[in-house]
Amino acid sequence: MSPTLSVSDNRVVYPVVIEGERVWLREFEAADGPAVQRWTGDVAVVQYVPLGPTDDEGARRYVASIVAEASVSERSTYTLAVMERDGNDPIGAVALTVDSTRHRRGELGYLLRQDRWGRGLATEAARLVVDFAFRDLGLHRVWAVCDPENQASGAVLTKLGMQREGLLRHDLLIGDEWRDSALYAVLEDDWDAEAVYL
Ligand SMILES: CC(C)(COP(=O)(O)OP(=O)(O)OC[C@H]1O[C@@H](n2cnc3c(N)ncnc32)[C@H](O)[C@@H]1OP(=O)(O)O)[C@@H](O)C(=O)NCCC(=O)NCCS
Repeated sequence: MSPTLSVSDNRVVYPVVIEGERVWLREFEAADGPAVQRWTGDVAVVQYVPLGPTDDEGARRYVASIVAEASVSERSTYTLAVMERDGNDPIGAVALTVDSTRHRRGELGYLLRQDRWGRGLATEAARLVVDFAFRDLGLHRVWAVCDPENQASGAVLTKLGMQREGLLRHDLLIGDEWRDSALYAVLEDDWDAEAVYL
């Protein structure tokens, strides 16, 4: 069950639990560090994102920062653990960061453990959090950036109904390399939680 507070309420929306068909989303806990290291420590998972690769201690600190962000007053970051129906450990993370309450705008991001790729799970998790952003937080625009070479991520955003709006040059410094980002977004009026766009 998800909370029904608007982002304009300026109140803490915590804890968030969102139920899906094959995955569900919950808040991270300090004990998730070792499970999280399975993807933050994988160079294939973090090659397009400004994160890691981390060792055990790095993953522990990363989880601690997510836990701390979740409980601040006027919460703006919802980094949620992606859980399988029959699993105890998170298999990934999906994040919604409200970057403007005035403009009711938030950024979507996601990562999944490599051995779970290709099953539609990232699309389902991202769909759940975008729906949460529009329905529960009252956002108007959800956007995401994705490396133009990251075809799997581009496919996830397209399947959600996000439109590619342009290219941000040298948007991210990944390792020691400047990377461009393709910019995608969906507006609340266009959002259809049931639709699959090909
Ligand atoms: C991006 C990521 C989350 C996708 O996870 P996933 O669970 O495999 O995604 P889904 O299965 O929901 O959808 C992936 C889509 O990409 C497609 N795809 C995968 N690799 C592809 C490739 N090399 N070229 C074209 N399409 C590709 C799949 O076919 C699938 O589309 P389909 O359902 O129409 O067949 C996962 O690859 C990942 O964690 N990558 C590393 C982190 C990352 O890049 N995060 C995004 C940052 S912007």
